[in-house]
Amino acid sequence: MGHVTIAFLGDIFAVPGRRVVQQQLPTLRADHEPDLVIANAENACRGLGLSPDLYRKIRGYGIDAITLGDHVFREAKIVEVLETPGEPIARPANLPASAAGREWIRIEPSGDRTRSVFVITVLGRVFVSLPSDSPFTTVDRILAALPEPDPIVIVEAHMEATSEKAALAHHLDGRVAAVLGTHTHVPTADARILPGGTAFITDVGMCGPYDSVIGRDKRAVVKHMSTSMYTPFGIGEGDEALCGALIRVDEATGRAVHIERIEYRADRTQPPFAGQGGPRGETGASGQQR
Ligand SMILES: [Fe+2]
Ligand SMILES: [Fe+2]
Repeated sequence: MGHVTIAFLGDIFAVPGRRVVQQQLPTLRADHEPDLVIANAENACRGLGLSPDLYRKIRGYGIDAITLGDHVFREAKIVEVLETPGEPIARPANLPASAAGREWIRIEPSGDRTRSVFVITVLGRVFVSLPSDSPFTTVDRILAALPEPDPIVIVEAHMEATSEKAALAHHLDGRVAAVLGTHTHVPTADARILPGGTAFITDVGMCGPYDSVIGRDKRAVVKHMSTSMYTPFGIGEGDEALCGALIRVDEATGRAVHIERIEYRADRTQPPFAGQGGPRGETGASGQQR
């Protein structure tokens, strides 16, 4: 047995996020040769939700598995994808059992890897408006039921509070390969391996425009926050980057041996940012940003 290398990308945010993934993922793949690339795509469609068409488009960029967060059902048609057997897409596991979609997915990495990788995403309950069950007991329950002894498990902590993410990571230390934070759209500098062998980072950041307020048009958000007047939030533009984490997992133990933060900045002189062929611009809907 060897090691399985997994790239996990943060929330793909609207057109700028889709463009930077399309442009930079081939470079990431050439640099790190991941066996598996996972991305959160809850903000892919105008900043809120994921449509079936965009699900297929993003998969076509080279993303092997997709997760969703609190915006999981904002594009209602995604339910048909969530309910299609075998589609590699996970909804937050700690939603009601009756919600559409799967609590965990099982992915077979490419190449000569011998182990499956299980992916679970859970919502936080601190400063996250969508009601959800305990992420702690939800992951405990799923780990006890996975159909493989000592499985390789990636847990996404889709949470606002840094404390909740750290607590979940320590709760799961030694039992999963990685706990990777998303949702704030801001990368953190704390990637490390915990004492029990679980890789952890508070937030991998987003794939999107960083010259913005967490993806939204900075002028609109500044106006709203500085005046308290209603202001529609468009999509930000500029400083696009693909952000995520790279994890290497020992297939024999299911524990991480390496984690690093990864960031690939867009080349705005090249397609799909320049010239033809990229997704057309969108103005985006107003609403909650993360
Ligand atoms: Fe979110
Ligand atoms: Fe998000």
